[in-house]
Amino acid sequence: MRKLTRSFYLFFISLSIFAQQNRMWVPSDAQKAYYQMMEKGARFSLDDLYHPEKPSFNDAIVQFNGGCTAEIISPQGLILTNHHCGYGIIQSLSSLEHNYVEDGFWAGSYEEELPAPGAYVTFVRRIVNVTQQVLQGVSDDMSPERRQSVVDKNIAKLKQEIQTEPWQYVEIKPYLYGNIYYALVKEDYKDIRLVGAPPSSVGKFGADTDNWMWPRHSGDFSLFRIYAAPDNRPAEYSPDNVPYRPEKYFKVSLDGVKEGDLILVYGFPGRTQQYLPSFAVEHVTQTLNPVRIDIRQRALDIMDKYMRSNDTLKLKYTSTYARVANYWKKWKGENLGIKKSNAIENKRYIEKLFLQQAGTNGFGEEAGRVLEALKQAYNELEAPDLARNIFIETMYVNNDWMRRAFLIYQWENLHGDNYAQRKAKILDRIRSAFNRTDNRVSKELFIRMMAYYKQKMPEAYKNKTLFEKNIILWADEIEKTSLLADSSKINRLALMDYNKFQEALKNDSGYNLARTLIDDYYGKIAPEQSRVKEKINNLMRVYTKLLMQSGLYKDMVPDANSTLRLSFGEVRGYEPRDGVYYEPVSTLDGVMEKYIPGDYEFDLPEQLLKLYEQKDFGNYETGGTVPVNFLGTAHTTGGNSGSPAINAKGELVGINFDRVWEGTMSDLFYDPKICRNIMVDMRYVMFVIDKLGKAQNLVNEIIQNQ
Ligand code: ARG
Ligand code: GLU
Repeated sequence: MRKLTRSFYLFFISLSIFAQQNRMWVPSDAQKAYYQMMEKGARFSLDDLYHPEKPSFNDAIVQFNGGCTAEIISPQGLILTNHHCGYGIIQSLSSLEHNYVEDGFWAGSYEEELPAPGAYVTFVRRIVNVTQQVLQGVSDDMSPERRQSVVDKNIAKLKQEIQTEPWQYVEIKPYLYGNIYYALVKEDYKDIRLVGAPPSSVGKFGADTDNWMWPRHSGDFSLFRIYAAPDNRPAEYSPDNVPYRPEKYFKVSLDGVKEGDLILVYGFPGRTQQYLPSFAVEHVTQTLNPVRIDIRQRALDIMDKYMRSNDTLKLKYTSTYARVANYWKKWKGENLGIKKSNAIENKRYIEKLFLQQAGTNGFGEEAGRVLEALKQAYNELEAPDLARNIFIETMYVNNDWMRRAFLIYQWENLHGDNYAQRKAKILDRIRSAFNRTDNRVSKELFIRMMAYYKQKMPEAYKNKTLFEKNIILWADEIEKTSLLADSSKINRLALMDYNKFQEALKNDSGYNLARTLIDDYYGKIAPEQSRVKEKINNLMRVYTKLLMQSGLYKDMVPDANSTLRLSFGEVRGYEPRDGVYYEPVSTLDGVMEKYIPGDYEFDLPEQLLKLYEQKDFGNYETGGTVPVNFLGTAHTTGGNSGSPAINAKGELVGINFDRVWEGTMSDLFYDPKICRNIMVDMRYVMFVIDKLGKAQNLVNEIIQNQ
């Protein structure tokens, strides 16, 4: 009897496990996904999804500033992305007189749009599977080094051969650990201007408390415009540039969504690791995550204490706090989700099936060998990877003084072309780092972080002599004497000739400490970690190839790698815990329920309160309120922020910006029961632009194409 129950159980999990495969399809190879979308009611064509010659969705989607995603929503090159993606730009264009972060910004005309120096967007015009050409002459018995050199040569040759326009360039990237290669023909547009942003109280409503959470009520969007040369080609910023005329843009739909509707999310997901074996997931969730969470918790506590005590400090640390808190919270959710979805057991079960299947098909021995080798490699990885993570978290992410030392380290090692220009850039970064920190906080962070380093750094990587010194004395010394804590010393340093500069660095005990540790990192920790990582990558290539051969997965869609992907699903609520069901749509009523006057996370603009009171919802009303956010089952990750959420008609109904907490483990293990992506409803976006921003020009531009 027990046996029967158990085999039933296995049968059911095997059904669900293989539903958790990666769902981020490469657009040029998405026929299968397209047929599934058709079954769910898609009315756009396969050619709409992607076509190398005809205008298609990919022509209306760009990578925004190297990280996020944005989409074109008008014939004049207007693009929509998240507020948190535009935040850095909005902040840098703000001043005390014009505080666009606080108050929002709405350009009334092209002339009022604000150039964002350094910002750029990237189009992917063509995607070509070049696996055969790249792997030409590669054989299974080659050493990894030999293999890589053949691959590199083939790639170099291919790049020459692929035809592009003069303003385009080619990138060739490995997918599925180098079992597959695609060539991507890209274009960068570098004249990007800010067009609109809601006040932060709307754009980041709920801030860190609501981050990674549902129910959510955030108006996380901002608007930019792509500018081009008069011939519509990419150009550096110039006042003579004109709004870009796109080959394709999305029509904004005010139809909204309801549970069960098809939703297509199309963008640039950064990194997932769906095919990791069980012990690798253990490495991430049981070795790395607890340490990273622990370190960040300490740093957040310190920042929070000072931010609460002093408004200037609050202003200085707000964005650092948000950045640190974002992944701190994500990792916590990830560990919960891994547990809740039995991911590790499920992975073990996959491995068992894999070995069985391989045995039946005559490659059992090879399969056994590769899994065993991977297991050993993960044992080998533990110490250097832990060391690397402790180093990065305690010396870089959460330590103002030491983070600054990295910039000085770059400066010290600067030589060759464009010296002056590169030095000026580094100096800019050092100065802006000083503007965003305060020695009271930095000192306490330093003490806490170095104490952690001293205590937790694996023995083999710890610099024992260095840590004989008392950390508090160190901190005092840095505070009193070091250029790490004194911007005027940096200014003086900038004016010195090379010998004096060297001399000054040599005499700075704070910087010397940092340099010793940084040298340890580059000399020992990083090389060892990447040596083992490299080995793992090669084994993962073989493992995923055999997994493919085993036929266990219907489709082995490659992990995210910051390239253009599409993922579809439907609008759907979820059950985070027993007895709790979350509806998939939130509304303005919920915004008002969360409203706390004067609170830094839950305050609201007065005008919004008025609109709500007067029920002045315009065309954006439904059921007596305005829909704000909604949930979907699309598989997304970091980098998908700003991605268009497209309905069955191929129209824009939302903009992706987050995932739910219980489902953040989808980077490692996608569980359709609890993994949800979160989107802003376009009706809320338009409501804010129209009623709150009163930007009639933008409403006309966006809606004129309806
Ligand atoms: N969690 C979302 C994403 O990963 C939104 C982040 C916005 N930042 C924040 N700390 N609230 O990036
Ligand atoms: N907020 C994330 C980003 O900035 C997207 C959310 C996620 O990781 O799914 O890309």
